[in-house]
Amino acid sequence: MVVATPSDVRKHLVPARAAGKRIGLVPTMGALHAGHASLITSCRKDCDVLVVSIFVNPTQFGPNEDLDRYPRTFAEDCRLCDELGVDLIYAPTTPAMYPPGFATTVRVEGLSSVWEGASRPTHFQGVATVVLKLFQQICPDVAWFGLKDFQQTVILSRMVTDLDLGVELKFGPTIREPDGLALSSRNRLLSPEDRAAAPVLYRALKRAAEAVSQGEEEVDRVRQILWDTLNSEPRGRVDYAEILDPVELTRLEGRFQGRPAVAALAVRFGEVRLIDNHPLTPA
Ligand code: PAJ
Repeated sequence: MVVATPSDVRKHLVPARAAGKRIGLVPTMGALHAGHASLITSCRKDCDVLVVSIFVNPTQFGPNEDLDRYPRTFAEDCRLCDELGVDLIYAPTTPAMYPPGFATTVRVEGLSSVWEGASRPTHFQGVATVVLKLFQQICPDVAWFGLKDFQQTVILSRMVTDLDLGVELKFGPTIREPDGLALSSRNRLLSPEDRAAAPVLYRALKRAAEAVSQGEEEVDRVRQILWDTLNSEPRGRVDYAEILDPVELTRLEGRFQGRPAVAALAVRFGEVRLIDNHPLTPA
């Protein structure tokens, strides 16, 4: 079942809510791959009524980004949702989501302007606004997001807390190709040479994570491992490669001393910008 307007999705879920059913949501921009499928499968086990939204959200793309090139595979997406037991696909049109005169945005200050936000200044306010709208329209009890977009999970957690949204957020692990490249709809835009080079992101993250699990205490040395590994692959241009506090997203300094940390990076291959991350857990 596919619905396309905020009022239809609301109406459709009235009986489920009245019956006390647990409603689960997996927000997506379509072009579904095994990463999305894994979130949908986890959410299926975690709710009674499973909604997947498919909406290529224009407000999270910058003026020079790839909105027009973003892959659209709606028929295949619907088939996959069917196979995975999705109860309702919500695929609103852009005018249904952003009617004429639309003027309200939500912005999670601070967290939205660093790292991904530094090169994509309006990206996270587009994400936060559309996710808040989806939450208002669907009123899910639980929503599943992927750790692949780590900063997105941190920002959405902050928003849910700050605005008392009462939606439980759950996070699924990053699903990867056999060579370690994190699945992303953008991978198909890589040239064959860049595709062959791109697993360097995961290699760098794994080396850093291994060093920490084997007792490396100096944050600088672990950061250096990231940079040295990434620099060994000349096709990629590093945007950032950092060791971060996983809640504040600030750059860690000094020694780990048991503090939780995440390694996060963004690397450009031609026009395609890839991101990835990995938790760093001490021995
Ligand atoms: P999209 O890129 O379609 O991703 C939808 C969800 O799938 C996100 O939670 C994302 O983190 C997760 N995901 C993507 N690749 C993954 C992978 N390799 N392994 C596990 N999960 C993965 O993220 C968005 O859309 C949008 O910003 C959205 C939240 C829908 C708001 O428009």
